Amino acid sequence: MARLPAAVLVLLAAGSAAAVWPQPQYVSEGAGGGCRLSAARFRFAYADRSAVAPGCEVLDQAFRRYWELLFLAGGNGKSEDSPCNVLSVNVTKPGCDGFPALDSSENYQLTISDQLMLLTADTVWGALRGLETFSQLAWKDDNGMFSINKTDVVDFPRFPHRGLLLDTSRHYLPLKAILETLDAMAYTKLNVFHWHIVDDPSFPYQSVKFPDLSQKGAYNPFTHVYTASDVKMVIEYARLRGIRVIPEFDTPGHTRSWGPGAPRLLTPCYAGSKPSGAYGPVNPVLNTTYQFMLEFFAEVSAVFPDFYVHLGGDEVDFTCWKSNPDIQTFMKKMGFGQDYSKLESFYIQKLLDIVSSYGKGYVVWQEVFDNAVKVKPDTIIHVWKQDNGHYPNETARVTKAGYRALLSAPWYLNYISYGQDWLGIYLVEPLAFKGSSAQKDLVIGGEACMWGEYVDVTNLSPRLWPRAGAVAERLWSNKTVRNTRDAYRRLADFRCTLLRRGIRAEPLFTGYCEHEYGSV
Ligand SMILES: *[C@@H]1O[C@H](CO)[C@@H](O)[C@H](O)[C@H]1NC(C)=O
Ligand SMILES: *[C@@H]1O[C@H](CO)[C@@H](O)[C@H](O)[C@H]1NC(C)=O
Ligand SMILES: *[C@@H]1O[C@H](CO)[C@@H](O)[C@H](O)[C@H]1NC(C)=O
Ligand SMILES: *[C@@H]1O[C@H](CO)[C@@H](O)[C@H](O)[C@H]1NC(C)=O
Ligand SMILES: *[C@@H]1O[C@H](CO)[C@@H](O)[C@H](O)[C@H]1NC(C)=O
Repeated sequence: MARLPAAVLVLLAAGSAAAVWPQPQYVSEGAGGGCRLSAARFRFAYADRSAVAPGCEVLDQAFRRYWELLFLAGGNGKSEDSPCNVLSVNVTKPGCDGFPALDSSENYQLTISDQLMLLTADTVWGALRGLETFSQLAWKDDNGMFSINKTDVVDFPRFPHRGLLLDTSRHYLPLKAILETLDAMAYTKLNVFHWHIVDDPSFPYQSVKFPDLSQKGAYNPFTHVYTASDVKMVIEYARLRGIRVIPEFDTPGHTRSWGPGAPRLLTPCYAGSKPSGAYGPVNPVLNTTYQFMLEFFAEVSAVFPDFYVHLGGDEVDFTCWKSNPDIQTFMKKMGFGQDYSKLESFYIQKLLDIVSSYGKGYVVWQEVFDNAVKVKPDTIIHVWKQDNGHYPNETARVTKAGYRALLSAPWYLNYISYGQDWLGIYLVEPLAFKGSSAQKDLVIGGEACMWGEYVDVTNLSPRLWPRAGAVAERLWSNKTVRNTRDAYRRLADFRCTLLRRGIRAEPLFTGYCEHEYGSV
């Protein structure tokens, strides 16, 4: 753990003033009130002997962003001499050009005293988290002056993988909506954008190698696609905010939209002895299928820099496979009997071999594990089935088998209900399952999911925010941070911050914000 400052640290109790979301691990507030931040003078600076220096794109840009966020609401233009006119940022490990990864440190320490304001972090990614906290600590007094109180913060995430899934197949989300989501993710310290980019309804990913996939599979091949430069932009925008991008290309099910652009990829379904004209999952018995996947994933592996690719593997419907005589013949030849999950395993194992041959790791939905597909020991199993609350047992089974687990089952934010449904989301305890501490260590985090059946750009933001923030705090803060009264106060306050920053976050309950959405 990070060095603690000499001052006695107290975990902030409910009812105290500073409202940071998600709650930092340790906060101690000094006495004596605020120090003025002058918009005319305030600047961020690289500390002496910091391992990164001006020209570091990640921090140069973050300094500009956070300056604007701090003084967004206008305020204090008076030029005053004050020790609070400079926040020095000291990063101890070099590296600005890389990408954040699962094992990147996000630790930081923030010291705001009479003498200096200093942010120290191991990496630029940690510095980004600290800048966010700093921006949330600043407050505006009754005269419209920005101040920051004497405070010490020592902070680090509880889980390294804190994700958000967006589904851009069921409804196309314009690039701008994705970028805005990345902004709000950075505000809540979420660090993985899981891009469920294609699925049955549409194929908006424009492949360089197989342009027909989006040409024939997108809702509209010109307006409803993500070009190579769109994808690059999302990845870079995310990187500058310390967010990883994990693409999901879900197979062998959920692939209807691949069909038109990839002849012979999908299984022809039969009605009696004749093809019915319908198509099922990817055809696992043709060699051409694996040749296609080899070339397709060569591209995907090169385009998306993260070590992990999400390979889906959920909800494979066997009906079509069962109807097809070529598949039946193959089943016999392989000695699979009538066990179609063996055929699914056969396919997935070949796919995993292809993807690992490109030096990538993979995440798969839980069915791959449930169907006993042989996977590499470092595979991440994504637990999603709600199953009347059985998910803790699934997490126990996955980790008992030695696999790392990622939790989404309680966090399907596309489901909504009347009232304060953030509370249920918030009170989930990811490690509340029967298992050893070694098993608990295998839970790397979780993801909030926003499936797109009933969600497009018109309702994305209000449905996500601030509810996804509840997941963000559960995954970042100490497990003992569960006081819902205190959480309500801070989350309601944070929602107002989101509105001020231009995010259409829905209300938690009755009330108002000083700066309502759209007001100036
Ligand atoms: C800062 O300190 C002042 C004076 O102690 C207090 O009234 C105020 O609530 C504090 N503000 C924050 C954001 O902590
Ligand atoms: C920044 O960190 C480096 C290395 O840890 C240290 O040598 C240096 O004194 C620090 N600078 C400041 C201003 O704290
Ligand atoms: C598919 O590949 C396997 C192994 O390389 C080979 O034995 C088989 O004959 C091929 N099948 C077809 C239809 O080409
Ligand atoms: C979970 O597993 C426990 C045994 O470890 C069992 O008693 C319980 O009924 C299971 N819960 C569900 C919801 O399946
Ligand atoms: C979480 O909080 C508890 C209670 O304050 C404390 O004992 C524990 O050390 C904290 N965990 C971490 C990782 O700091």
